[in-house]
Amino acid sequence: MTFKPAPWPRKLRSQHWFGGTSRDTIYHRGWLKNQGHPHDLFDGRPVIGILNTWSDLTPCNGHLRELAEKVKAGVWEAGGFPVEVPVFSASENTFRPTAMMYRNLAALAVEEAMRAQPIDGAVLMVGCDKTTPSLIMAAASTDIPSIVVTGGPMLNGYFRGERVGSGTHLWKFSEAVKAGEMTQEEFLEAEASMSRSTGSCNTMGTASTMASMAEALGMALSGNAAIPAVDSRRRVMAQMTGRRIVQMVKDDLKPSDVMTKPAFENAIRTNAAIGGSTNAVIHLLAMAGRVGVDLTLDDWDRCGRDVPTIVNLMPSGKYLMEEFFYAGGLPVVIKRLGEAGLLHKDALTVSGETMWDQVKDVVNWNEDVILPAEKALTQSGGIVVLKGNLAPKGAVLKPSAATPALMVHRGRAVVFEDIDDYKARINDEALDIDETCVMVLKNCGPKGYPGMAEVGNMGLPPKVLRKGITDMVRISDARMSGTAYGTVVLHTSPEAAAGGPLAVVQSGDFITLDVPNRTLRLEISDDELAARLAAWQPRHEQAASGYAWLHQQHVEGADTGADLDFLKGCRGREVGKDSH
Ligand code: FES
Repeated sequence: MTFKPAPWPRKLRSQHWFGGTSRDTIYHRGWLKNQGHPHDLFDGRPVIGILNTWSDLTPCNGHLRELAEKVKAGVWEAGGFPVEVPVFSASENTFRPTAMMYRNLAALAVEEAMRAQPIDGAVLMVGCDKTTPSLIMAAASTDIPSIVVTGGPMLNGYFRGERVGSGTHLWKFSEAVKAGEMTQEEFLEAEASMSRSTGSCNTMGTASTMASMAEALGMALSGNAAIPAVDSRRRVMAQMTGRRIVQMVKDDLKPSDVMTKPAFENAIRTNAAIGGSTNAVIHLLAMAGRVGVDLTLDDWDRCGRDVPTIVNLMPSGKYLMEEFFYAGGLPVVIKRLGEAGLLHKDALTVSGETMWDQVKDVVNWNEDVILPAEKALTQSGGIVVLKGNLAPKGAVLKPSAATPALMVHRGRAVVFEDIDDYKARINDEALDIDETCVMVLKNCGPKGYPGMAEVGNMGLPPKVLRKGITDMVRISDARMSGTAYGTVVLHTSPEAAAGGPLAVVQSGDFITLDVPNRTLRLEISDDELAARLAAWQPRHEQAASGYAWLHQQHVEGADTGADLDFLKGCRGREVGKDSH
């Protein structure tokens, strides 16, 4: 840790709007006074933008308006001037074709909202999956001091006495309906039991994973990730975050000071230990690209390889975020990494302390939730990166959510050309498929879907489910919900729509998955593969205009984070010319 705080007092960027007596500054200041602000609020104190992804249509963040009041209280207490700013909110459960298509648009909009306005520091109020990476990407591209506070997970769901995990049980129940083990009425009854309170998904899905990633990167206060949305300590966390950002502005503690290569390696290992979502791969690669850290898919495999999954949460395990919080939450996990020699202990955090200083004294209060290493769900919990002639630039698999017996598997490909083809044929009893086959889904990557939807964990055919079989090897260029599970190979790169080898797999080909050796092979000769690729024609539709066009023209592959090529890097915080 080499951070040296900037001298204070000094002139902040907000003074370019508010300082002095020129006509321009009066224009900026005077209009704000219609909110009832006294003149001395514009005296050079830190102006803190509370960037709020609250939306009625982002239900996971539906309580952030109230929570923002606690952030404001903290900013006032510390001598700052809080201004709440609504920003683009990419909701996981309402955006079509997929919220992922809008992560980069949100990051672009928020970046410009930060740079274009008198904001000296930012509190990133996030929760639902894409809201967290999009705002961190924006902050990284401005390098304005920023701190994350998440909305926290929902309380446990229960159905007929059993825990119900957000998403995880949706997949389970829908398979049970297909297999004839659950009626549609029971399914509807279960739906009502899933979401008992405000907050994000209560499993270790993508929202909880990204909250954990923010904390492991050092971008949130220690302990933030797991506090339930409705717990009074969530509101305390918001207030403490508001207090802290004011000092961060005075010190000029920036995202680039915190999000270093060691911080990303800490986050990757943390993801392995918590059994986190495969979506973290894409989001961390994109965030690193914004802050100028050279992070690759190979770093994911290298760092995660020897990390056991010790957090016993769905979808990999049996508990939910509420129990994780009661057990001590993420600080316990990070401490365990430190004790195992798997943590860069001196990584700087937004608190101003090192990561190790924050966690070294915490206690694990429940060893059935945060497991001892010898009882780990899997000893090698890191995201596996597979390569081979089917995935020259890589594909990923989450071992803690997969079936051990399928980690080495050779099977006959059953190919679906796109998601519509899959939906049209998967329930057909005449489909030539059994549990030994490998299901292949094409044209669901960043360009192809477009946006790279979470359809990689495609449901099994009913005739296989009726045998009591719940997992098969599945391969696609899609993503998978963080709440999902199975032996699912994802993010295959290059994607089919970009002419990757996935595009030319045919039903009847044989495919070999070998996780211990990190390979994914299509068993055809090099000559045959080259001939098929030479004859390949794109089949996905190109948008003619609008954001969908921009996305398809400029989105990069999943192997580098699926950012838009012209948005990579940090463009800084420089104030533009005044227009008045
Ligand atoms: Fe919003 Fe899961 S759908 S957090």
